[in-house]
Amino acid sequence: MIVLGIETSCDETAASICNDGKILSNVVGSQVIHSDYGGVIPELASREHERLLNILTAKAIKSANIKIEEIEGIAVTNGPGLSGALLTGVSFAKGLALGLNAKIISINHLEAHIIANLLDNSDIEYPFLCLLVSGGHTQIWLIKNLADYILLGETRDDAAGEAFDKGARILGLNYPGGPEIEKCAKNGNDSRLEFPRALINSNAVEFSFSGLKTSLLYFMDSFEESSEYSISDIAASYQKAIIDCLVAKIKLAVKLTGVNTVSIAGGVAKNEILRKSIDKNLKNNKIFFPDLKYCTDNAAMISYLGEKKIKMGKCSHISFSINPNFNSKIS
Ligand code: KG4
Ligand code: ZN
Repeated sequence: MIVLGIETSCDETAASICNDGKILSNVVGSQVIHSDYGGVIPELASREHERLLNILTAKAIKSANIKIEEIEGIAVTNGPGLSGALLTGVSFAKGLALGLNAKIISINHLEAHIIANLLDNSDIEYPFLCLLVSGGHTQIWLIKNLADYILLGETRDDAAGEAFDKGARILGLNYPGGPEIEKCAKNGNDSRLEFPRALINSNAVEFSFSGLKTSLLYFMDSFEESSEYSISDIAASYQKAIIDCLVAKIKLAVKLTGVNTVSIAGGVAKNEILRKSIDKNLKNNKIFFPDLKYCTDNAAMISYLGEKKIKMGKCSHISFSINPNFNSKIS
């Protein structure tokens, strides 16, 4: 079945074609416009989606080498995300579905991030644990089966990606902060500074990154160029503090559930040091990492999950609405 996926929840405009579980095209337009502001400006994101949706969808259809009339289903992210941004994608998808007389399905962005793990790891076995680390969310899920998930815990405040983005801003680095901090940290010593690791020893699957960010802010307030620490040392130590918390809690989730298979998802899952640390600390577990191109926002994960759900008979009625907030459920 040929399914078009559309993703516009934040600052990536993306379109993809999936056919019988195979990704035929995966087009992503990252909106560089936001880097001047150090974060995503919602109104600018919506306007960019409006400008790019038609162009990128046409490109996805062309590079999949199909005709538009062959699209049988359309899958579109309806939340969580920025309201205006979600509305652009959902309105576009609904119009196209009506025009083509195609099926439509609304997709939860977080579920799609998790299921992106299956794109290159079709042999992954249920149940598995998934550390979902993106710009807006930091959660650990127990994936019992497709469309059967239990939220084990999440952050009390900032998401890990947000800690990277805000930390980068404090350090004078560009947006998005995750790849910038990772790059800068390469030349640094990650044990030069001891940043706080909130809740790391608690026996609950929970995170807190707001204190870490404040501690970096205070440190930088009194930082001088002539200091004994380099920006790379600070970036490496800050990154290590975030990663130590993530790894400690996925280890705890393994211990509490007895589930042996572990995966990661979301933009922060691109981080090489996080991947190495999981490999090192969970030596007795089966570990699955999604391909780098399926970690940050993309529409391949939307078209892939959409096709699976349509085949399960889970189509949406055309009147579905956007759902900007996360409400503890993802299927
Ligand atoms: O999943 P995603 O593309 O969007 C959301 O759903 O939020 O994740 C974006 C987040 C940003 O906070 C970005 O800084 C972070 O992923 N990120 C990284 C890396 N690449 C992207 N964080 C750490 N290391 C990276 N290499
Ligand atoms: Zn995302």
